[in-house]
Amino acid sequence: MTSRLPISPQIFAIFSALIAEKIGIHYDAGDRELLGDKLAVRALDAGFDSLLDYYYFLRYDPAGAAEMDALIDALVVGETYFFRELAQLEVAVSELIAPRVAAGGRPRIWSAACSSGEEPFTIAMLLAERGLRDKVDLVASDISPRALSRARAGVFGPRSLRSNAPPPPFAGR
Ligand SMILES: C[S@@+](CC[C@H](N)C(=O)[O-])C[C@H]1O[C@@H](n2cnc3c(N)ncnc32)[C@H](O)[C@@H]1O
Repeated sequence: MTSRLPISPQIFAIFSALIAEKIGIHYDAGDRELLGDKLAVRALDAGFDSLLDYYYFLRYDPAGAAEMDALIDALVVGETYFFRELAQLEVAVSELIAPRVAAGGRPRIWSAACSSGEEPFTIAMLLAERGLRDKVDLVASDISPRALSRARAGVFGPRSLRSNAPPPPFAGR
């Protein structure tokens, strides 16, 4: 894609520092065009014809927080589906969580970048399958407001079931 707002190395440097500070995503110099294209789309959409003006708006304007959320949504990769990385989750539940419950503890699981919720719902199913659901606290968070609103809605389509791994016995339910 050719950006209508070219990004100089200096503008790239201040934006990549801002993004690393806000969301911990790091862009290398080789990503300049890629990031520039994404920034240009957001900047033009928000009514700016200069990336520097857009930067100042994000950084200093009180109204910039909502646009920062929109930019975060544009930058993050929300790849997720039910039963993704199932083997690891099963090991975590069977070998870490279940023994702690058996020992009288109440473990807390944090799906720290849960995207639209398929990961914590998968974990909840694995817990329920073992009778552990009400013995464990399960917390989920994400930096993307759009992903979280999908997670809260809890409505999932066929793309959420695109795992290549053989589904666990409860998947049909
Ligand atoms: C590839 S998805 C992974 C979703 C899920 N963990 C899974 O494996 O199915 C990555 C998620 O990380 C989130 N993310 C990126 N940076 C984050 C940060 N600093 N704090 C919280 N979430 C973040 C993104 O919004 C995105 O939803």
